[in-house]
Amino acid sequence: MHPRRHLSIRPAKLCVALLRAAAARPAVAVLLAAATIAQPAWANTAPDPLAPTGRWDAYTRGDAATPPMGWNSWNAFGSGIGEEKLLASAEIIRSSGLQAKGYRYIDLDDGWWLKRRQPDGRILIRTANFPSAATADGSTSFRPLTDRLHAMGFKAGIYSDIGRNTCAELYSTDGLNQPEGTVAEREVGLYGHVDQDIALYFAEWGFDLIKVDACGIRGLTPASPWVKSGKFRAMPPLVDSDSLGRTDIPAVHALYAEVGRALEKHNPDGDFVYSLCLWGAADVRAWAKDLGNMSRTSDDIAPTWGRMLHSFDSAVRRPLYAHPGSWNDPDMLYIGAGDFDADHLVAAKSHFSLWAMLSAPLMIGYDLRRAPQPLLDVFGNGAIIALDQDPAGNQAVLAFDSDDLQILVKTLANGDKAVAIFNRTSAPLKASLTAEQLKLRPDADVRLTDLWSGRATTFRGEQAFDLAPRETLVFTAHGTRRLADGVYLSEQPGIVNPAVDGVVVPEVDPTIYRPIFWAGTHGTGEHPRYGGWGGAAADQTPYGKTIAVGGRNFDTGIGILADSRLEVRNRGYARFSALVGIDDSARDRSQPVTFLVYADGKLIAKSRPMRFGEAPERLAADVQGAKLIELVARTPDPRRFPDPVAWGEAMLTR
Ligand code: GLA
Repeated sequence: MHPRRHLSIRPAKLCVALLRAAAARPAVAVLLAAATIAQPAWANTAPDPLAPTGRWDAYTRGDAATPPMGWNSWNAFGSGIGEEKLLASAEIIRSSGLQAKGYRYIDLDDGWWLKRRQPDGRILIRTANFPSAATADGSTSFRPLTDRLHAMGFKAGIYSDIGRNTCAELYSTDGLNQPEGTVAEREVGLYGHVDQDIALYFAEWGFDLIKVDACGIRGLTPASPWVKSGKFRAMPPLVDSDSLGRTDIPAVHALYAEVGRALEKHNPDGDFVYSLCLWGAADVRAWAKDLGNMSRTSDDIAPTWGRMLHSFDSAVRRPLYAHPGSWNDPDMLYIGAGDFDADHLVAAKSHFSLWAMLSAPLMIGYDLRRAPQPLLDVFGNGAIIALDQDPAGNQAVLAFDSDDLQILVKTLANGDKAVAIFNRTSAPLKASLTAEQLKLRPDADVRLTDLWSGRATTFRGEQAFDLAPRETLVFTAHGTRRLADGVYLSEQPGIVNPAVDGVVVPEVDPTIYRPIFWAGTHGTGEHPRYGGWGGAAADQTPYGKTIAVGGRNFDTGIGILADSRLEVRNRGYARFSALVGIDDSARDRSQPVTFLVYADGKLIAKSRPMRFGEAPERLAADVQGAKLIELVARTPDPRRFPDPVAWGEAMLTR
């Protein structure tokens, strides 16, 4: 949909970019200002970012306690969407039994609008494609459509853009169903109309979800062909998907926060889903968890194996950034097309299993009117859906990582594990799964139940598997927990929030598979581009290594940068303990790190200042009755590139 963007480069000095980044992460602003740049006035009054708040700060508003499920029009119909196709798709979801299995959002994506009426700015619907939206006075309304969907037992979703123009307006090659009229009439995006449009879509028309795209805030420089030809108004680009340096992170953050406030205002009952669609740009993988219910971690998925890998990789190392209420969104399912069609059921099942392990929103993007039964059976696998919708909301953690094969483990609400063994390659592979990877005891039976075949098997110690090309084996696993009387924090990313993850200068994540994208093989190739490198990690360091302190390795723990604060929900545990220290992969090494533990805002344990190379120190405290625990790692003189630290074997026990 989007040819390689040609953006003119705005001059941005490093310190300006740093300050921008800092302002987008108010938590680090003071540190940064103190460490590198003459203090701006506002920094003096900023509160200490590492001070405990006693509060869970990740997003819990809206209606997304489990990942939203449903159907979205875009991958099936593009801008060729209309009421008939939408309702026919909804009808199949109902009659096939998929609705009863949890698919409840019917989302209208780009391509629905006619224009923004002047001078009052009311958005008008293209009634040629949505006849039920016609009204006697010409003002148009989606209320009949949402009423119909609600009467069918569905929720209704709509699409807009954070800028003045939408993605299809900018990138559609055939212009089909694009907004009409003057430049102002074609400005159908939210920019400058947030309150008016959100009131219209939610209070007046009755929608329950909005996906907010971002094409309108990129690329519309005065020099762009769109602006030069007079088609669209210029707007200083706030986002460049290829460059964090050419992105105004605080400005983008502020625009999305404004929409969030409007959603709360016009949905006093909290019945809404706020879906951010910033494609992993603007460092959104770090901050969306504080602002909305689901957030795209990458550019668009396509029905090819490489594009699926790209989407998957953009979320897989971010389990600590997903929680009930704020999910990573690696994009919609592309099951039904291309490499995931009915002739490629092994790959289609992999795609579905992997999204469930990620606790990703499950949005079908397929023209269900022509779905053969085997594909409906993939979407309808109740065991995989239950895995996705598990109420604990723990995104899977990587237990084994390589470019060829990955093992992902997800801790379920009942204490059991789910495990996926993923053959990323197009050749057969052998793999072993160990009880240790499941954090289960190797000397006791582990019972596996295959979630596709239902077959149960038992092993001790380890089990060998043969995987077909592109196959994902997925099981629930029941055994004897290594930690009998509690949980490791890294088993429970759904209750761990890196409120301040210590990243001062956003850096691009080099671990994401790079397929050929919009530009084909023109240009210089696909480069890493999503911020998030150095973010908090489960069972790894922030830079993807084995956690190690003073020569001792940990297969379990939270890896995070110094000058950070983690929030941990405590559901009835009595004791917290961890082995803390500076990670052996540290490079700066100049600063000692003090580790502090707070319970409901009160300091309950503190380490001595720890130096690089020292053996880990045990930090333990009574947390009985406390609702929120905060884990702070602090240096006296924060650096721009802080050292990684470890909360090794961090655990809550009875
Ligand atoms: C962007 C989004 C897609 C889709 C299209 C619509 O590419 O990432 O998911 O919404 O815009 O134009």
